[in-house]
Amino acid sequence: MTDYNSKAAAAYDDTVVRQFSLAAVLWGVVGMLVGVFIAAQLAWPELNFGVPWLSYGRLRPLHTNAVIFAFGGCALFATSYYCVMRTSQVPLFLPKLAAFTFWGWQLVIVAAAISLPLGYTQGKEYAELEWPIDILITLVWVAYAVVFFGTVGTRKVRHIYVANWFYGAFILAVALLHLVNSAAVPAGFMKSYSAYAGVQDAMVQWWYGHNAVGFFLTAGFLGMMYYFVPKQAERPVYSYRLSIVHFWALIFTYMWAGPHHLHYTALPDWTQSLGMLFSLILLAPSWGGMINGMMTLSGAWHKLRDDPVLRFMIVSLSFYGMSTFEGPMMSIKTVNALSHYTDWTVGHVHSGALGWVGLISMGCLYFLIPRLFGQKKMYSVRAIEAHFWIATLGIVLYIAAMWIAGVMQGLMWRAINGDGTLTYTFVESVKATYPFYVIRVIGGLMYLAGMLIMAWNTWMTVANGRAVRVSIPAAAQAA
Ligand code: HEM
Ligand code: HEM
Repeated sequence: MTDYNSKAAAAYDDTVVRQFSLAAVLWGVVGMLVGVFIAAQLAWPELNFGVPWLSYGRLRPLHTNAVIFAFGGCALFATSYYCVMRTSQVPLFLPKLAAFTFWGWQLVIVAAAISLPLGYTQGKEYAELEWPIDILITLVWVAYAVVFFGTVGTRKVRHIYVANWFYGAFILAVALLHLVNSAAVPAGFMKSYSAYAGVQDAMVQWWYGHNAVGFFLTAGFLGMMYYFVPKQAERPVYSYRLSIVHFWALIFTYMWAGPHHLHYTALPDWTQSLGMLFSLILLAPSWGGMINGMMTLSGAWHKLRDDPVLRFMIVSLSFYGMSTFEGPMMSIKTVNALSHYTDWTVGHVHSGALGWVGLISMGCLYFLIPRLFGQKKMYSVRAIEAHFWIATLGIVLYIAAMWIAGVMQGLMWRAINGDGTLTYTFVESVKATYPFYVIRVIGGLMYLAGMLIMAWNTWMTVANGRAVRVSIPAAAQAA
């Protein structure tokens, strides 16, 4: 199927896939480096150095934007373009527009990396970027939608493979979320006021925030799961029927769960309960999808022994299962009364982010990079093996430390003496948290070390390979 030499046959537009794949590795290193730095600042606040643009409040959004939108985003662009071309057996629709999505997205990232440390922010979590950058995001995203759906529309295969449904939902939902939540009135260059006020503003923000998790950090990555896990395992998806049920159930349910971020606030009580109910329901489609991905390995479990790339993918699915069990539990109001404001939330976030989003992206990039550069495998398989173990141990250290710290903080804050006074002052809980913050730094350093190994391995693979042209199968061209 792969024809590296033919110039005559039509070929896939892999240049943009190559660019996004390499950018994902680069931004992964940068975003995680900032993550380790802010983790260290929480343990040793002197690391602010008294410099405003190195302060925690400015670097934290830089971290979240870099890992989610730069690292995760580039991995999503790369894998979605690769998948939609292969499953549709056509080149990209409007390749020049696809090139614009690459350069436009890099410009967004650079603009974020400059404006956030300078202190420009809309103050909405995961939607911090100011209005001129928001407009650029909109342009890139519309171009992305045109390229993706245009490619689906010109497909030579009758069926639209399920991975494309997930990628498509991710693209449409993110467009909707971005347009609604970023609506603002500009009040000068790099300054604006939200179009909403008070509790409505909070509700819109967490409708956005939760669906950023549901669509940016989940649906797109499920697209990766449905294409790359069967590819790497060389097995068809366990149940295609389940994948369709999974799709509709997941996208319907996610949209309603946002209010679980606003328990015990001024939001009407019934809205909070509705959010909790939908979060509990969300467990079912999440686990259905996870089981579908895992069971794709039926009859091929032995492959896990000597295929570290497949191990990245399957372990990521177990973290997905874990965080989508934990999330619904945390959405129960009485549980949230303990977990909210504590590091338990941060532990939950990173079991999803490092375990699910991080590992599945890395697995897919390890699949893609050698193929895109005419190699059978990555330069060093042992390095992939080392990356896997260091990263997995790093995640365990990170999330276990945050769980223990979080539950401890929650219990300390609510402990009351017989006479009704608080047992602990706030600062005592901060002091008790210190060792766990140090453990998190160590876990984060390990995860970052794994990413650096990946960057080296990528460099060596690219240096030893060359960009290849992959022909579209002749049968598809004749069709
Ligand atoms: C080396 C790896 C990483 C380290 C050391 C790290 C560290 C941190 C730290 C210290 C915070 C701030 C927590 C707080 O304010 O209390 C944070 C927040 C966050 N990080 Fe990471 N991070 C890493 C990787 C990632 C990755 C790969 C992702 C996503 C794919 C991610 C997503 C997030 C998100 C969404 C938040 C905000 C959490 C919240 O508001 O509750 N992180 N990270
Ligand atoms: C069934 C699925 C899930 C449900 C019901 C769920 C539920 C929750 C709940 C209840 C919170 C705490 C809200 C608070 O107290 O403020 C939370 C926070 C969060 N979750 Fe999940 N979660 C799910 C899956 C995931 C996954 C897979 C990821 C990551 C890939 C993730 C990322 C986050 C983030 C980033 C936050 C922190 C938001 C913030 O405060 O900045 N969640 N989630």
